[in-house]
Amino acid sequence: MLSASGLALRYGSTVALRSASVTVAPGETLAITGPSGSGKTSLLYCLSGLVVPDSGSVLLDGVIDVHRLTDWERSDLRRSRFGFVFQFAELVPELTLRENVELPLSLNKVSHRSRKSRVADLVSRFGLEDCADRRPATVSGGQAQRAAVARAMAHRPAVVFGDEPTGALDGESGEVVLGAMLAHAEEDGAAVVLVTHSDLVAARADRVVAVRDGETRSLCRCVSLADCFLGPDRPAGSDPPASCSCCC
Ligand SMILES: Nc1ncnc2c1ncn2[C@@H]1O[C@H](COP(=O)(O)OP(=O)(O)OP(=O)(O)O)[C@@H](O)[C@H]1O
Ligand SMILES: [Mg+2]
Repeated sequence: MLSASGLALRYGSTVALRSASVTVAPGETLAITGPSGSGKTSLLYCLSGLVVPDSGSVLLDGVIDVHRLTDWERSDLRRSRFGFVFQFAELVPELTLRENVELPLSLNKVSHRSRKSRVADLVSRFGLEDCADRRPATVSGGQAQRAAVARAMAHRPAVVFGDEPTGALDGESGEVVLGAMLAHAEEDGAAVVLVTHSDLVAARADRVVAVRDGETRSLCRCVSLADCFLGPDRPAGSDPPASCSCCC
């Protein structure tokens, strides 16, 4: 579905990505982990076409070179086939949560009736009934974040990017969000790319890629990810290993 190689990106003199490569298949959930400042958000921005890398490529469906498209084509692709949950929700402040969730459906010219029914379903699934008609400034961070996830999934995109989508949520809300994203991969065949600091969230993904100083490394799961990623040899609070001890 999505395949990126050799991504490099600088912000002025700061190197955000040195050489990042990832692939994610339809129906697959990929978790991206790594310390603060290692380049995870930069990687998601390059993968989703929000930021053009200095070098490297991102291929969609094996043929569409995302960064060789015109600005218009790339915007169109992002609107129709991608969904993005930003690290800090980034809802449109003038719109209610319900209108924010509806936005990608309006932009994709979905009929009024289908829009209303899809939004009602998402509002209920993400537990937003009590705050759906309020603006982002008047709801909690967790409610805004759940609306941001609902918005990213509203138009059933082929690829959903989540930049710490469960970071601002309590356990129960986090489970609703994670469950919805995993279900979107399993049931709709979407590719899901999820940045997370949580080992427990990473352990639910099909594969895990760690980012260190702008470079990517795959962490394998052979018996189960929990065995190698959360294994007994890993000291509490330490970084995840570059590889597990069982097959790498
Ligand atoms: N707009 C920007 N201008 C200048 N430097 C930036 C900008 N955005 C990110 N950086 C720098 O690029 C590097 C990678 O940042 P990035 O946001 O990708 O990290 P991250 O892994 O997502 O961190 P966090 O876990 O804190 O969100 C950091 O050194 C950061 O300071
Ligand atoms: Mg980040």
